[in-house]
Amino acid sequence: MKINDKFDPGHYLASDTRYDKMQYRRCGKSGLLLPLLSVGLWHNFGHTDNLENGRNILRTSFDHGITHFDLANNYGPPYGAAEENFGRLFQQDWKPYRDELILSTKAGWDMWPGPYGTLGSRKYLIASIDQSLRRMGVDYVDIFYHHRPDPDTPLEETMAALDQIVRQGKALYVGISQYQPAEADRAVEILRSLGTPLLIHQPRYSMFDRWVEGGLLDVLEKQGVGAIAFSPLEQGILTDKYLKGVPENSRMVKDGRYLTKDKLTPELLEKVQHLNEIAKQRGQSLAQMAVAWLLKDPRITTVLVGASSPKQMLENIGCLDNLEFSPTELNEIAKWI
Ligand SMILES: NC(=O)c1ccc[n+]([C@@H]2O[C@H](COP(=O)([O-])OP(=O)(O)OC[C@H]3O[C@@H](n4cnc5c(N)ncnc54)[C@H](OP(=O)(O)O)[C@@H]3O)[C@@H](O)[C@H]2O)c1
Repeated sequence: MKINDKFDPGHYLASDTRYDKMQYRRCGKSGLLLPLLSVGLWHNFGHTDNLENGRNILRTSFDHGITHFDLANNYGPPYGAAEENFGRLFQQDWKPYRDELILSTKAGWDMWPGPYGTLGSRKYLIASIDQSLRRMGVDYVDIFYHHRPDPDTPLEETMAALDQIVRQGKALYVGISQYQPAEADRAVEILRSLGTPLLIHQPRYSMFDRWVEGGLLDVLEKQGVGAIAFSPLEQGILTDKYLKGVPENSRMVKDGRYLTKDKLTPELLEKVQHLNEIAKQRGQSLAQMAVAWLLKDPRITTVLVGASSPKQMLENIGCLDNLEFSPTELNEIAKWI
């Protein structure tokens, strides 16, 4: 029996105060507003995870105005599990709130065996969105992404598939992820010519990974496309959790596929320690400062955090209490990133 088979649905009534504090930013030049924080289901929503905990992470998020939940076809483990588990939660909790939610999913990484279950062909993307909708038990997603560039499929084909998915009513908007500035620029032009504007780009961006500052954000601003920053906490490194060793319940121990212990060098920990001190002086935690630091750039529409507990999510939302940085603080931070 999977852990999730023991799951007791309970009953959910969203908080009346859910829109009191969250702020929303316009996504590029679109009509869509997104919350300053969004929640991702990459980890903690697989069949090996406790679904009740996942349910409480999403409830806590929505109760504080986080209207955007981000998925992908292969989030799990196993692949598809996060969408399946979200589908169960959707039936129990979210169905009455569908029109208050922005759901996204993606295709691009390996998903099923053979040549049609990966990368960027029309064949893969159209089949994948149909599978995702079935797993999630929804009629449409709000945003459908091409998850990573495909060097061998013509960009025209991949973008035409995104356009087709919108025209079929399976997604309202489209996005791209991990595209470099020049290919993102070209994707925007192709989509514009097809009549389906690119809504959003999803790049990795944190205080320790600033590649987007080298041109991508300029392209997005010029083209009126929004940006959603993923792994803003460097999967947990930009928090105080690894400062006194590696906790047993951390991602590094529980699921070391993408976050390995060799990342925690003495040099990196020294930087984290200094950033943690600056955060304390600002009266916030390092996780809160890491999110706020990304939001100081108005081109960042929303910061896409993960959380392994409702408590972490609450802490991250607490960044809203201090989003301003003095020039001195920015200079201090710049020494350690
Ligand atoms: N487009 C893409 O290619 C792509 C790639 C990766 C991710 N994403 C998206 O981005 C989302 C976020 O990515 P991510 O999970 O790597 O983001 P992250 O926010 O950098 O890391 C989240 C992890 O950090 C730890 N954490 C979070 N808040 C904390 C706090 N307040 N104190 C201490 N630890 C805290 C938790 O790990 P512990 O388990 O250690 O507690 C949590 O699971 C994903 O869910 C997915 O939707 C997209």
